Amino acid sequence: MKITIIGQGYVGLTIAAFASKSNQVIGFDNSQKVVDQLNHGISHIEGVESTLIKTAIDSGNYRASTNGADISGSEVVVIAVPTPLNKERKPDLSYIESACKTIAENITEPVVVINESTSFPGTLRDYIKPLIEKYSDYKIEHLYAISPERVDPGRTDWDQKNTPRLFAGLTPEASKKTKEFYSTFCDNLVEVSSPEVAEAAKLFENTFRQVNIALVNEFAEIAHALGISVHETLEAANTKPYGFMKFNPSAGVGGHCIPVDPSYLAHVAAAKGVPATFIERANEVNLEMPKYIVARVAADNGGTLTGKSVQVIGVAYKPNVADTRETPAELVIDELKRQGAKVSWHDPVVSIWQGETSSALGGSDIAIVVTLHDALDKQTVLASAPYVFDTTGKLKGAKGL
Ligand SMILES: NC(=O)c1ccc[n+]([C@@H]2O[C@H](COP(=O)([O-])OP(=O)(O)OC[C@H]3O[C@@H](n4cnc5c(N)ncnc54)[C@H](O)[C@@H]3O)[C@@H](O)[C@H]2O)c1
Repeated sequence: MKITIIGQGYVGLTIAAFASKSNQVIGFDNSQKVVDQLNHGISHIEGVESTLIKTAIDSGNYRASTNGADISGSEVVVIAVPTPLNKERKPDLSYIESACKTIAENITEPVVVINESTSFPGTLRDYIKPLIEKYSDYKIEHLYAISPERVDPGRTDWDQKNTPRLFAGLTPEASKKTKEFYSTFCDNLVEVSSPEVAEAAKLFENTFRQVNIALVNEFAEIAHALGISVHETLEAANTKPYGFMKFNPSAGVGGHCIPVDPSYLAHVAAAKGVPATFIERANEVNLEMPKYIVARVAADNGGTLTGKSVQVIGVAYKPNVADTRETPAELVIDELKRQGAKVSWHDPVVSIWQGETSSALGGSDIAIVVTLHDALDKQTVLASAPYVFDTTGKLKGAKGL
């Protein structure tokens, strides 16, 4: 099959790497830099090795492009573009709209349009389909389906092949073609009765994580106030073989999914007049963690951070990826600066962030570990400052959550 994947980021490139083993894939992206790199066989995404891209290019099965004309003749078009929140923390579907325009302007024969971008129930039926029809002057009747993406960047045990994939078409024909496409690289396809169920399932999966992370973060504060170890308590609870799932406290949630997707669910709930109280409260708790951590650090250091040098270690939102989107490290740094600290950051995986390069490890009065990458040696981190506060629970001997 000739496939187009619109968006060659974490999701789109991961699918391209798998789909191009048995299909001809055009990786369409509007970033010339991304496209040039990919066509030189250089991957910018953790978990997608450059050798995979090189092999796919050499086999003639993969090419990246910014040129809309290259996507014509496709049988399947997958949308994998960002779905962030706007300044009011409401869904921003502008990237999806732009992808719809690209499809409408360049696809002249009926295809299967599959949305993999995360959005609220109704996005496929009430937004994507009408937009593509409008931009193509209602001339072509495409098939439409949804298959929400579950990729966990950097993870190797669960990938595109073995992770169960939900899907649903707007029509039985759309479902059939969607199944045919994903069967070329995924072993476990789960069809649900409507696109809205698939869209909602994706949002609920990430809301489940967001709420449980908030719960354990709140519990970390309670445990500290009670003078007991949150980690030992969680390990103890985790010996129960059923009815408990362990989540770890942290400086908060980051990335493009957990801090964002629950707000998509809250948005549609509000539109229907249903309160999404758990989501709202979980957002608050997670966003308050940086302040709590900085307050703990200040309390341990004579009650003030004014004039003290503090190094934040690990600014990516999770270990072993360079993704800094929505990273809680940013809120930790903002709070430290608000309290008059002189702040630097070190991250062996993130070389440039907010226009600054990573500083060398060490040399500060205080270190706060937000993300502990495997590339960071634990003993070296422990020795990097006279006082080390660990938010990860992985540094034995440090102060921390
Ligand atoms: N990152 C994850 O772990 C993950 C997991 C599951 C689902 N998702 C969802 O998948 C979607 C994509 O996320 P991502 O992390 O891959 O984003 P990303 O930012 O890594 O990549 C998006 C790519 O799309 C390109 N792009 C943006 N608008 C475009 C357009 N109109 N035409 C062509 N290219 C365009 C950008 O240049 C970028 O390269 C989002 O809805 C996200 O919520 C992400």
